[in-house]
Parts: sequence; structure tokens; C-alpha cells
Amino acid sequence: MDWWSNSAIYQVYPRSFQDTNGDGEGDLVGVISRLTYLKSLGIDAIWLSPFYLSPNNDGGYDVQDPRAVDPRFGSMEDAVNLIKAAHKSDLRIIVDLVPNHFSTEHKWFKAALQSLPGSLERSRFHFYDGRGESGEIPPNNWCSIFGGPAWSRVKEVDGKPGQWYLHLFNSTQADLNWENTEVKEDFEKTLRFWLDKGVDGFRIDVAHGMFKESGLPDVRSSWIEKIFGKNNLTRMLSPEHKPFWDQEGVHDIYRSWRKILDSYDGDRMAVAEAWVSPASRIAKYVRSDELQNSFNFEMLTTLWKADQIREKINNSISALAEVGAPTSWVFNNHDVVRSVDRLDLGLTNHGDTTFSRHGDVNKLDIARGTLRAKSATLMALALPGGTYLYQGEELGLPEVRDIPEDRLTDPRWKMSNYKDRGRDGCRVPIPWKSASDGAFGFSSNENLTLQQAWLPPSSWWGKYSAESQESDPNSTLNVYRKALAIRKNEPGLGDGAMEWIDAPSQVVAFRRGEDFACYINFGSEIELPSNSEVLHSSAPLNGNHLPTDTAVWLRVSK
Ligand code: NOJ
Ligand code: CA
Repeated sequence: MDWWSNSAIYQVYPRSFQDTNGDGEGDLVGVISRLTYLKSLGIDAIWLSPFYLSPNNDGGYDVQDPRAVDPRFGSMEDAVNLIKAAHKSDLRIIVDLVPNHFSTEHKWFKAALQSLPGSLERSRFHFYDGRGESGEIPPNNWCSIFGGPAWSRVKEVDGKPGQWYLHLFNSTQADLNWENTEVKEDFEKTLRFWLDKGVDGFRIDVAHGMFKESGLPDVRSSWIEKIFGKNNLTRMLSPEHKPFWDQEGVHDIYRSWRKILDSYDGDRMAVAEAWVSPASRIAKYVRSDELQNSFNFEMLTTLWKADQIREKINNSISALAEVGAPTSWVFNNHDVVRSVDRLDLGLTNHGDTTFSRHGDVNKLDIARGTLRAKSATLMALALPGGTYLYQGEELGLPEVRDIPEDRLTDPRWKMSNYKDRGRDGCRVPIPWKSASDGAFGFSSNENLTLQQAWLPPSSWWGKYSAESQESDPNSTLNVYRKALAIRKNEPGLGDGAMEWIDAPSQVVAFRRGEDFACYINFGSEIELPSNSEVLHSSAPLNGNHLPTDTAVWLRVSK
């Protein structure tokens, strides 16, 4: 079976993982230094968020050179050493590929600014004349995912206001024109570059972007309020067809990339970050001659309700079954409010403001959210397919809500006109130690203060540290470890069939293989089936009763 069908893949956000040169930013050597920890979790692979040369206006997703390492993260030698060291530990490595846009610091964009309208240099991006008498109105009515118009106007070489360029994200992330063959060739070069360095795969950023509907038509006016009146993820998730997402052209790219991946030895793969719906559209990205895997984002938008979770599981599995691809479960990543908070407050990643996206902090019960997040872990690891985990999820980190406003870095903060604090709260450096030295062990420089870390951890962060969780068998960390260890040796887990078990409506229960069962209790306490033996639980059981917001793995006899 293909490795990604069963794997637990751990996302490292390098800037916040481990700092080894004391500058307050995580680096690649830091990831190497934590491989023993990663191995001890029982994961199978690591996905590294971007570490490429970048002005870092959008966490490195604004790539200046995809074939160079940003000095803040180290050197190319460090990257190669990391790939080798991971392989030595039997861990695979996936890296990010960001094909929808380049940073405006990329040499191509700089050349475009120095060139005339209609030039070859401009044709690598989407440069258009504006509308209105003197071209002062953007070419169409599209908006940026982060807020504000999706177009910025440039000054021509003569110093006069000139054409506009498209940026679906930050104004420093210029959308590439995928009709241009140089763009296509350059990404093939990047794929080969990293495959030659030994990576096992790629995470394709905005995999549903790249192609735009021909002529770049306005979004139909009846949709404008519905689509553009709402925040970024609402727009990404809303089911209407949009002229900038999910165009047929992207599938030709994936067919050509698949050939490149298959031409290498080993099992190289790519996973799509495609925010498309309904689920049947995601299936198109993982047809047998396209990408091997796609994130299943259903659980990022779910309420903690048994019927909704059951429905999302059914939809995910049936959509992909048609194309024979495995699904993969995602409860956290660097773009969403952490699951501890989300599952407690019933957040579905929708909304325009901090309040609508991050919920009402006065209603937050972190203890309950932690129970739910731990249950979600046992559920995800028992469902068919693979799982993507995000760093800190194994520590049960909650969202950090008290980063001072002047320290926020997410472009969403400014582009939302300071209405949405954005995604920094899930990107705070990992607390490794309980004492605050070196920002809770994030930095090898013990004198580094919390304020000197690139995003300041809060004073209460130490209680979540890996160190403080080591010795507690019920800590989130140890629940994770044990779950991953059981999963590895349990023949019924990983990809394969599942069977629903009849259970009260507030309980999600399913069987895997001959005799393995997972029960998740969303309602009041229930009695466990009599013919069962407990293998693992997300929190202590009450005798033979399964408490609220708790999940259990059982050995059952039929
Ligand atoms: C998705 C990435 O996960 C996110 O962090 C980034 O802002 C956008 N794509 C733009 O590249
Ligand atoms: Ca560093």
C-alpha cells in the first residue's frame, strides 16, 4: 500500500519550531535537533512549511526564490542535512510548493516592473490596464483573500501610474500566469530540484488556484456581497463557482507533475491544499494520473456534534472512494484557530472579524476544548486513511489570544483593516521546557526573553511544554504517543474499510478490521459494550463508562 494512505504526517512550521542560533526564529538545524522527539511521537513523515528565500510577508508563502533557502532558516546544506537525517530516522520529508504566486521580490516581478506593458516580462504575471478614463479603476471586481482589492497599480518606468497586477493574497504575492510556458517550466525545474535533493513529496499550496477563467470576468454582481462581503475562508469555502478557483486547467498541470513524480525512484507524492467543495470536486485532484493525496478539510469546519461528524466522515469517504484515493484527516494547520478552541466554541472558520473567526473568549472552556481535541485525535487516527498533524497539536496547545497588536505579523491583520487578528495565534513558538528561559526552550539562547522570540509566547505557555507533559500518562502528548504506537501495529487501522456501529445518537462509533472499535461520546456518559477490552482512551474512563467528550479504542468480539 502507498505510504501516504496510512501515514501520520507532522507539519513543522520551521520559524516556530526550534531556534539554534539564538536569533529568536526557528531554523532547519533546529528541526534536525528535534528529530529524536519527532521520532518518539511515532509519526511517519514531516511536512515542512516554506523555508525558501522570502521577504516573509506571508510566513514564507511569498517566495522570492523557490530553489534557495532563506538565511533566517539556515543554508541549503542544512536543508540537505535535514532530509538525510530524517531519512536516517526513517521519516519521510514533504516540502511546500507555492505555484499560485511569487513574491514581488522575485527577479521576474522586478523585471516586469522595469518592462513595458505587453512585454514578455509582464506576461509571466497578470498585468492589465485599469478601467475608467485614466485606468484608475482595477481591471475587475475581484478581492484579495486577505481583504481589499485583488489588484495593485504599478508605476511605469516613466514614473506615471500604469497597469495593475493581480494578487489573490497579499499585495506582495503576485499571481503567476500559468498560460505562460516559462512559468510551467520553472515549476518543473523546482520540482526536480527538490526531488533530486531527496524529498519524498510536496504539499501544493492553493492547489485550486493557478488558472483563472479566461478573460478574468467580474464575479457576478449578485454574488459580490455573498462572496466578497465575507472573510477569506468564507470565500474559499463557499460552494459557488468562482472565476479564480478550481478551473479545469489545473488538472493538466497535475497530470504533468505526476509524470515527473513517477519518473523518480521511491514513492514520491504530492498532496493538494484545495479548498474546493463539494467533496466530489476534491476527488478530481486525486484521480489516478493526478496528485496522490489531498487534504480533507471537512473537520476544520465542523461543529462538535455527532450527527455532523458522522455526515462529514461519510461524505469524505464516499467522495474519494469513486476515484480510489485514500482520504486524510486534518484538525489543525497554520491557517486555522487551534482545535482546542475551535471544538469548544463551535468555530467553523467563517467570519470577517476576530470575534467571528476566533469566537467569544469569555465562553471558552479550555479544559473542555482539550478533552474534545484529544477525542478528535483518537477519532482521526482510527478513521480510514492518513492524518496530518500540526506542531503543538500533540501538546494540546490552545490558540494564543494575547499577542500584543503591535507584534501581530499576519498580513490579514492589516488587510482586514485591523478587524481580524489573523493566524498568528496558532503559530506561536513551541514550548519545549516549563521554565521561561530561551522562551520556554524554543531558543538555544537561554537569555532570549519571551519578547525576543519572533512571536512572543505568553507567560502561561510553560504549562503546555513537552517537558511538563512527559511524565503524565494522561497528558495530551502521551495520549498521542500511545495512539500512534497502537495504530502502527493494529492491522485494522490506516487505510481500508470501516463499518458504523449502532450506538445512541450522541455517540459516533465505528469498527475497523476484525475486532477494533472506536467510540466518541458527544453526549452524556454511556456504558461501554460488555464484550470489550479497553486499548486506549483520550481521557480516564469512569469504570466501564465513557464520559462526555471522551473517545475510547476497544478490542471487541463480534
Ligand atoms: C495557504 C497557506 O497555507 C497560507 O498560509 C497562505 O497564506 C496562502 N496559502 C497563500 O499562499
Ligand atoms: Ca534561528
